[in-house]
Order: sequence, then structure tokens, then C-alpha cells
Amino acid sequence: MRNPIRHLPDQLISQIAAGEVIERPSAVVKELIENALDAQSRAIEIRLEEGGTNRIVITDDGLGIPVDELTLALTRHATSKIYSLEDLESVLTMGFRGEALASIAAVAKVSLTTRTAQDHHAWLIDNATHSIKASSGDFGTRIDVQDLFFNTPARRKFLKSSATEFGHCIEAIRRCALAHPEVSFSVWHNGKPLHRWLGSTIEARADEILGSEFHAAKLAIDAGTDLFRVHGFIGAPTASRARADQQYIFVNQRFVRDKLLNHAIRSAYQDVLHGDRQPILLIHLGINPELVDVNVHPAKTEVRFRDSRAVHHFVYSAIKGRLAHGAGQARPVTAQSFSSPYAFSSDSSQTHMVQAPSPAMMQNYRLPLSTSPSIKDSMEALLASPNSHFDQPLSTPSAPQSHDDFPLGYAIAQLAGIYILAQNKQGLVLVDMHAAHERVLYEKLKEDVQQHISVQSLLVPVVLQASRLEISLVTENQALLKDLGFDLSVMGPQELGVRSVPAILSKADPSQLVRALIADLAEVGSSNLLDAAKHERLATKACHAAVRAHRLLTIPEMNALLRQMEVTERADQCNHGRPTWVQLSVPDLDKLFLRGR
Ligand SMILES: Nc1ncnc2c1ncn2[C@@H]1O[C@H](COP(=O)(O)OP(=O)(O)O)[C@@H](O)[C@H]1O
Ligand SMILES: [Mg+2]
Repeated sequence: MRNPIRHLPDQLISQIAAGEVIERPSAVVKELIENALDAQSRAIEIRLEEGGTNRIVITDDGLGIPVDELTLALTRHATSKIYSLEDLESVLTMGFRGEALASIAAVAKVSLTTRTAQDHHAWLIDNATHSIKASSGDFGTRIDVQDLFFNTPARRKFLKSSATEFGHCIEAIRRCALAHPEVSFSVWHNGKPLHRWLGSTIEARADEILGSEFHAAKLAIDAGTDLFRVHGFIGAPTASRARADQQYIFVNQRFVRDKLLNHAIRSAYQDVLHGDRQPILLIHLGINPELVDVNVHPAKTEVRFRDSRAVHHFVYSAIKGRLAHGAGQARPVTAQSFSSPYAFSSDSSQTHMVQAPSPAMMQNYRLPLSTSPSIKDSMEALLASPNSHFDQPLSTPSAPQSHDDFPLGYAIAQLAGIYILAQNKQGLVLVDMHAAHERVLYEKLKEDVQQHISVQSLLVPVVLQASRLEISLVTENQALLKDLGFDLSVMGPQELGVRSVPAILSKADPSQLVRALIADLAEVGSSNLLDAAKHERLATKACHAAVRAHRLLTIPEMNALLRQMEVTERADQCNHGRPTWVQLSVPDLDKLFLRGR
């Protein structure tokens, strides 16, 4: 027994489609704000009742909708934003599918008031009656959405408490506001004003929305070209969180959740952050729209990059490069009593430049990463010096001329066998000597390993079964794999032979290792797994070799450590993300003693 095939009624089609776009009140809020942004609004007002479950009213001062297009605006697959497939490929508006208003109208009571610059008065369309009539109202558009899911009770049941829905709405608003700092937003809940963010810079908006914790610990980042640019702020490792709930990533001003970008970020932080800690960050990727597909899912929080490897490598390098700026970077002290910025670097807005992919480079993901020459030069000098090897924990430096010559100053004493006290231009520097030394050793070890990976050849090649996809991944990446110490060859249409592995990983099961490696290649196109495995071992090694607390150091030994910190990348945090040193300026000390009040 079967029923005959029939067309679904329009209303039902819209209700089904609405399921994809409008899953809860926050989705209505997001779609309506995006429409206001697409209409070039400068100020957007959002009024919610009961977390948006009862009512959502959004008013903008944008272009408005001409009265003869009003009915179309509420119709599915009707849009003013694209007219052809070519338009879709270069789309920069938030919307383009022409289904948000129709979807919302299918599952809620909607009325829309709008007025363009040409209109002498506003027009009102009521979706229940489809009637259009003259109305009062300013330039722009106001959409009133009431009783969401009133006609789809099954969906209404899935709504959570109004407090929960309210939380989701606020999050949606925060994302839009962070994506468009130049636009003013005001937010009301149950008739009470909640937020008022005036149009401003990205930095001011971030401070307002992400709060003081972020403000104190952010590092400005700006790298790339017009074709591909990453800019914004990344949180210092010391301001990490247990959850990834303060990570705002935008691609062409669209909030996204993207596995590839998350992976790039996690990898960039891996040296300075414990695996279970999450950095705070706000980054905008600007990318030529033709190099990214935003039409992956109706809610558009997923994107697909044309060359995902190039994007991964670029984001990874930019963030890692920024984090690698060694001792000499503005960084806050956590103790509450100190409130001024503590750094000897006067340039706290210093940004790190990484070369962005050019069209040709987008095909070749290995991009040069330029570290600042001073750090690199001194690093090389240090590595070249024979007595700086980690087997000799502390080498003796040439005598400094005066403490003014060094950013971290000149050692004056050791405190409690744990801290080095040093004096520099600003005042007092406190160094956790174990943490600092551990970091210095770790970076040196890493450099050593990167310069010559020792390879362990296998007496008999290990043969493993592999899919065609896996085999092609291996063939494509043969050179990269070889650099990493893996000698893999194709033995048959579905067989791979492993002839060598990096010596540092020689105790692991080669076939498992290679499988994990291929999985990594498939996901992100480069092997961070290997880096991770390597670095974990190195960190443990460095920790054991580092000078233990309670060992008495001589003044020259302490100075040696300070000098090494200055030339070591990422010397501001130990391998576990704790700070290695803090600066207390003379004014800070004065404040402690209530001097000069
Ligand atoms: N706030 C607004 N201001 C001006 N025009 C709007 C606004 N909201 C919607 N529109 C118009 O209605 C059309 C349909 O909106 P929507 O259903 O969200 O589809 P899309 O945004 O994908 O085009 C838009 O293309 C736009 O022309
Ligand atoms: Mg839209």
C-alpha cells in the first residue's frame, strides 16, 4: 500500500524549510540583524520579550524596502542580493538565500514597517492578512516577530526557559556587534535597556563586549594583504579559560565555527598553553570572497575554503608568530594592587607581520614566516655559542655595561631560592627562575630538533593497508613527510610501506603512527600531530633539565638566565602557560607604599 505523490502546500514547505534556518529565537535575532546590516544600517535596536520567545522587535535605519517589493520580501527564494551564480561566488552580503523572512513568517506572527529615502511615509505589511497600508515610521525598517512557533507546537516544545533563550539571543547579538563595530547597537529586554554600544573601533567594541580580562591580556594581530588578511586580538596565554567560550572568529564579517581554523589556533597556542586551556580571541579573516564558499549550510556558520591548507598555515603562522615575540611584550601583572601597564616595551600595539598567500601561493601552502630579525639573530648567536647547551644549565655571559642596557635588567639578588630580583630602567623585575629556565631550555631543544630530525630506519619495512585516498595523500605529501623523518612508499594499489620514522618516535607502533599522520593530513593538510608529539616530549625533558627551585645561583648565573630569556621566543610564559616574570615599576612600588599621594 502506498499513497500517491502530491505537491506539498506552500505554507508547509516554508515551515519545513524554517526548521533549518530558524531553530530558536536567537536565529531570528541573527537573521534580522544581518538583514539590517546588509541594508547598510548605522544603528540597530533590538527589543526582546521573554528571551525572544514572546516577541522580538528589530528596528534599523537602513535603506528600507520599496513598497512594491514588500510582498516579495516575505516570499521564499526572493532576494535583492544575488541574481546569478556568479553573484553568489563573490557575495559579500550576510544574506543571499532569500529565505529568512519567509521562514520566520511561516512560524511566527510577523509585521514589517519600512520606509525608503524616496517614500513620503512608511508602509506596513502584516503577514497574517498580506495587507499593505500606509503607516507612520522613520526611514529604515522595523520587524515585529511575535509568538514564535505558535503554529508548530512540536517545535515550540523544544524551546528552553526564557532565560536560556535570552542567553542565546545575547550571544547572537554579541557576535554581530563584534563583527560590525562601526554600527551602533542597543538592546532591551522586557522593556528595560540592557546594552548600548555606540559605533566605534574593533578595539573599543571588543573591550566593551569581552570585558576587562580580555582588555588586559590582548595582543594585537594584523598580518596579510588585501587578498587574505587576519587582524584582531589574540589573548595572551596567561588569560586562558577552561572553555572555548570567548573565541570569536569571523570570515568576511561572518561569525563562523570552523574545525580547520580551530585546529590552526590550537596548534599555534600549543607551545604556550596547556592542552586543556582555551585562549580568548577575536579575529577577523578577510578573504577574497571567491576563495571561500559560504553556502555550505543555511545558517552559514560553516564555510569552505578553496585552499584550506594555505588558510590553515597562514592563520597558524600569524598567531604563532605573534605569540613568539619574546620577553619585551606588554603583559599585565595579575596582582590586583597594580594597575598600570608593566612593560619595558613602549610599543604595546606592536603587531606581527606574516606574509599572506598570494594567488600563486594559495596553491603552495608553505609560507615564509618572518620573525623579527633582532630575536632571530640573537637566537642564532645563542645557539651558535658552544657553552649555551642545555647540559650546562647556566652559562656565564659577558659582563653587562649597565642594567639600562637590558630589557630584563641586572640581577641584584635571589629571593627564597625561587625568585630572581633584577633592576631595570622601569624598576623591579621579578623572575620565577625555574619557569623561566624551563622555557629557555625548551625553545633551544625545539630549535635543535627542527634543525636535524634524526631518523630511525626500520630493518624490515612495515606494510599497512591503506585506502586510495590515503595513498594519494601520502604521494602528494612525500616531501613533507620525508622532512619530518617518515620514509613511506607505495607498495601496491592499497598498500603502504614504512621504511623510517623519526627517531624520537621510534618506540611507537609505526603503522599506528602513520595512520594518525594520514588522518591529520586529511584533516588539515599538514602534520601538527607530529609537532605535538615532539613538543610534549621536549617539554618534559626541558622541565627535568631546568634548574630546580631552591638552588642558589650566583649573580653572574642569574644574569645569564636573564640574557637568555631576552633572546628566547615565548619567554614570557613557561611551557605550562604560567608567567615567567613580572615588572613592578617605581610608580607601582610608590603606590604600594602610598608615596606621593
Ligand atoms: N532590514 C531590512 N532592510 C532593508 N531590506 C530588507 C531588510 N530585511 C529584508 N530586506 C529585503 O528583503 C529581502 C529578503 O530578506 P531575507 O528573507 O532575509 O533574504 P536575504 O537576506 O537572503 O536576501 C532581502 O533581500 C532585502 O531586499
Ligand atoms: Mg536575510
